[in-house]
Amino acid sequence: MTDIHIGFEPNARPEELNRKRFRDTLDRLLAQPNTPDMLVLSGDITDRGDEDSYQKTAELLKNVPFPIHMMMGNHDSREGMLHAFPDTPNEAGFLHRAFVADGLLVVLLDTFEEGRHGGAFCEKRRDWLAATMAANKGTPTLIFMHHPPVVSGIQWMDPAPGEQWIVNLGAALSGFEDQVLAIHCGHLHRQIVSQFNGMTVSVTPSVAPLVSMDLRPISSKKADSRALITSEPPTYALHRWENGALTTHYETASEWDVVAYYGPHLQPMIKHMEEEKVAG
Ligand SMILES: [Fe+2]
Repeated sequence: MTDIHIGFEPNARPEELNRKRFRDTLDRLLAQPNTPDMLVLSGDITDRGDEDSYQKTAELLKNVPFPIHMMMGNHDSREGMLHAFPDTPNEAGFLHRAFVADGLLVVLLDTFEEGRHGGAFCEKRRDWLAATMAANKGTPTLIFMHHPPVVSGIQWMDPAPGEQWIVNLGAALSGFEDQVLAIHCGHLHRQIVSQFNGMTVSVTPSVAPLVSMDLRPISSKKADSRALITSEPPTYALHRWENGALTTHYETASEWDVVAYYGPHLQPMIKHMEEEKVAG
């Protein structure tokens, strides 16, 4: 899950929209029949990085029965994060880490820089990532980072092409592109797939309201009354690592009904489909 933005409306009664959307998304995740090994929250956990918002987040997460990995987004603060979630690894001031789970190297990056909306990836982080990749050469790799290192076309949210932090990221991953199965991001608040130096970049839609689907140029000189943020439903991504393949599923937390249940009337169809597979 990504971009939860707890605390956007801290005084809303009875409950702010973003807390409701987070609860709905967690409920949906916990209701589906597959048990995740971990939950990654890839940044913009809170809207202002304040302690109250992190405490409210922790409260909402307390019934999650599997490990949770907190990541930094541009709306977060490292101090607030570490205060509410003291188990978050802090390596020389950066909340990044990497671990191998079932043969998959999972890398969680920290692209936060105080005072910036856009991403950051300094030489220290570049060197840490390069060393992490070198120590795990050949291990299939899944990278999470808040800021997508791509120009998506949503101009107001995008980096300029060739920003130094993106160059640094590319340098750290140079020579390891073939082992990076996917780079999963947040920040853009929409479902987007792109490429970075031959690697697949996917953006998981936000838990908070979405960024509108508008690829026209935008000008800071003229406010043209376009839609910027929409009430489209929250979504989470479920990443499945099985038999050496990484596959990502998405589910929204909107209202919907089951249209068909698997009863005896559908058994012949399921049987036929199974037999087809055996037949190759
Ligand atoms: Fe965000």
